[in-house]
Amino acid sequence: MNLKNKKVLIIGVASKRSIAASIAQVFSQNGAEIALTYQNEKLKSRVEGIADELEGEILIHPCDLAKDKDIVDLKEFIKDKWSNVDIIIHSAAFAPRELLNGDFVDNITREGFQIAHDISSYTFVALAKEFSEIINPNGSMLTLSYLGSERVIKNYNVMGLAKASLEANVRYMSHSLGHKNIRVNGISAGPIKTLAAAGISGFNEILKHVEDKSALKRNVTTVEVANTALFLASELSSGITGQIIYVDCGFNISGV
Ligand SMILES: NC(=O)c1ccc[n+]([C@@H]2O[C@H](COP(=O)([O-])OP(=O)(O)OC[C@H]3O[C@@H](n4cnc5c(N)ncnc54)[C@H](O)[C@@H]3O)[C@@H](O)[C@H]2O)c1
Repeated sequence: MNLKNKKVLIIGVASKRSIAASIAQVFSQNGAEIALTYQNEKLKSRVEGIADELEGEILIHPCDLAKDKDIVDLKEFIKDKWSNVDIIIHSAAFAPRELLNGDFVDNITREGFQIAHDISSYTFVALAKEFSEIINPNGSMLTLSYLGSERVIKNYNVMGLAKASLEANVRYMSHSLGHKNIRVNGISAGPIKTLAAAGISGFNEILKHVEDKSALKRNVTTVEVANTALFLASELSSGITGQIIYVDCGFNISGV
């Protein structure tokens, strides 16, 4: 698929294992110009290392999505360098670790609820709001979700609520931005061992369960998720918006 001359902003690279790192690699291999962000100084050198392995000149800028000013600064940076942008990938989520463990009702706090929804859902529409003036027609926005939005997954807890909100966000954003011919979609990825996943207690049990019960009898790879992201960002999916596409080896449709 050809993304030549497409400008793609990717938020959410933290390590080589990040889903966003695979998306950057696959998009770069398909001719896209890439901008990456890092959440904080600790992650800067890792993101630079990943950028070094991509084709062409990669733009890099800090952005802590918890800060409105960082989102504005990022928009100004992209506007200055590129004038506009075609595709925005939001591959970021966060909830306090102590909420991703144990009993949902016992462990929930107002603060934890707010943080999880703020970082994992609000920031997607916040990016849309800030960037809408510079997203090109035919552009698209994409986010990453998980089955915990619809089913009870042990220890996923408040993050399940935040992902449900994110998926509703995809639908509402698709209507807000559709008249500009900007499409908005989400990928619900199967479990993958990344830094974010390491924060969920008993994550290895989830991996094993999917391997046993999914239609394909295995777990998904970050490259498979990235290939679907490529399709959703390209003209081949021009009639698709407001959707959550499962890339999970068929686990979500499996019954007994
Ligand atoms: N790994 C899985 O099993 C899985 C499955 C389905 C969906 N997802 C989703 O995929 C996305 C990417 O996660 P991943 O698995 O690649 O893990 P990851 O840890 O590699 O990426 C998570 C990213 O979120 C970023 N982030 C968190 N808080 C932020 C903030 N305040 N500002 C800016 N960035 C912030 C981190 O810096 C990191 O880059 C997340 O939305 C996650 O929920 C992951």
